[in-house]
Amino acid sequence: MDLELAGKTALVTGGSRGIGKAVARELASSGCAVVICARNAEALALTARELSEETGQPVTGITADLTSTEDVERMVKEAARALGGRIDILVNNAAAPGGIARGPLAGIRDEDVLADLNTKVMGYLRCARAVAPYMQRQGWGRIVNVGGLSARRSAGNLSAGVRNAGLVNMTKYLADELGPYGVNVNLVHPGTTRTERSGPMHAEQARKEGVSVEALEKRIAGANSTKRIVDAREVAYVVAFLASPRAIAVSGEVLAASGGAGQAVFH
Ligand SMILES: NC(=O)c1ccc[n+]([C@@H]2O[C@H](COP(=O)([O-])OP(=O)(O)OC[C@H]3O[C@@H](n4cnc5c(N)ncnc54)[C@H](OP(=O)(O)O)[C@@H]3O)[C@@H](O)[C@H]2O)c1
Repeated sequence: MDLELAGKTALVTGGSRGIGKAVARELASSGCAVVICARNAEALALTARELSEETGQPVTGITADLTSTEDVERMVKEAARALGGRIDILVNNAAAPGGIARGPLAGIRDEDVLADLNTKVMGYLRCARAVAPYMQRQGWGRIVNVGGLSARRSAGNLSAGVRNAGLVNMTKYLADELGPYGVNVNLVHPGTTRTERSGPMHAEQARKEGVSVEALEKRIAGANSTKRIVDAREVAYVVAFLASPRAIAVSGEVLAASGGAGQAVFH
């Protein structure tokens, strides 16, 4: 199926590495001009160059800290300029995976919870608010929010779950507000996803638990229906579909891209 993404323009937040980079690669490979944003200018420039060379599409890095409204508004203006005045697709993805407020209740610090909400819930809201006028003027757009399956389970990971659950509601709010303008908004929940950080992270966790990396990864994979760990690229396929004209029938929805993690059935 041709996703009809060729010629579209896309802004991917947190596009310098991980899932955001995989999404930027997939959209550029499908013919989109892409802007990626993150805080670290050097990493961003390296990724932008790598993806431009690899895909032959313009991929531009623009630095921004999404916890700042001012920064988001400047970044979106610069992104629109780089993309020829149109922003067809926004992929809200930038955040610290797993969140920073974890562990027993007594040790939860207000500032950690607020920082997680400020980056992920408020950061996504700031970007959607700044991009919406472009999409409304165009009469077409797609916003894909990247949440996380911690929205549906508790794993001692307080603010990751709270912020991802909050995004479910925000996604429907945005879908209803922007739907009349031809803008569809959806949410993708990755489960544990293999990115370039997984190697060192799994090695460290395996060392702490006194097990081999193979045993650890087998256990993670074993919690999925497919018995394998999903790769960032495979999450990007799902995001690319929802970002495409072909996803016209889907809005305000939540889709897990985890290979079937957990036992719960959603209907
Ligand atoms: N990986 C997983 O297993 C997994 C599972 C479920 C959900 N998720 C979700 O998927 C998304 C991406 O995760 P990932 O694993 O790809 O993360 P990652 O590899 O750590 O990448 C995060 C990206 O976001 C950027 N970023 C973080 N805070 C930012 C801020 N305040 N302003 C601007 N950019 C910021 C980072 O760049 P800078 O640091 O340079 O700013 C980087 O580009 C997150 O929303 C995460 O919660 C991931």
